[in-house]
Amino acid sequence: MKTATPTMRLDRLLANMGYGSRREIAQAARAGLVVLDGKAVKDADQRIAVTVDLAARMTFDGAALDPPPGMVLMLHKPLGVTCSHKETGPLVYALLPPRWRRREPMISTVGRLDKETSGMLLMTDDGDVLHRIISPKSQIAKRYRVTLDRPLAGGEVEAFASGRMMLEGEDTPLLPAVLEVLSPTVAEVTVTEGRYHQVRRMFAAAGNHVVALHRDRIGGLALPDDLAPGAYRLLDAADLATVFGVAGPASG
Ligand code: URA
Repeated sequence: MKTATPTMRLDRLLANMGYGSRREIAQAARAGLVVLDGKAVKDADQRIAVTVDLAARMTFDGAALDPPPGMVLMLHKPLGVTCSHKETGPLVYALLPPRWRRREPMISTVGRLDKETSGMLLMTDDGDVLHRIISPKSQIAKRYRVTLDRPLAGGEVEAFASGRMMLEGEDTPLLPAVLEVLSPTVAEVTVTEGRYHQVRRMFAAAGNHVVALHRDRIGGLALPDDLAPGAYRLLDAADLATVFGVAGPASG
């Protein structure tokens, strides 16, 4: 069944996108600063169809509109920033335009990367998308490049793939994970779960220590080489389908 395009009053839509209070939006609209398809929308009560192409069709004060609600983006998380709204120190949200921090619903990270892990981080204001990606049922594969303190001992590939590996303090074994050895101290590991500090704890359980961790793939979506640390890019429906399109090692 085809779902109807949601509509929203202009003042509410733009206030929720962080452009100002509803009163300020009404003033801006009256002044002709809100333009849709080349025509000023002077009445802030007007209902606007919230389509994915709205940013290409609407301008605010002469500039293209921010992405409408339902946005998903990929951030190349640098080292040293935290995936949190409230902790002290540098936060991933500070890497986005300041206006986006005033959005309602707010933008959240899809799962977390540790402060000292770099790589692909998805962020969204769409609760359904967030839950579909992090749901244990989805088993979306996440690939990490791992640099180790000591050479691999041998046996880690089998241990990770066994479906019997236990993490300290837990009582459910890990789902099978794929370990690809690139050198004695560098490997790629693909997991389909998102347990707390999972990759670091897997190597700790194997008697090693992770010195660098970088996520370069979620589902079928790879972190582009030209996306610098700290930069982000919006995902479209095709990118999102790619996230969901590739089954993880435990599902096939
Ligand atoms: N596993 C970890 O140990 N840390 C991360 O940031 C992600 C996966």
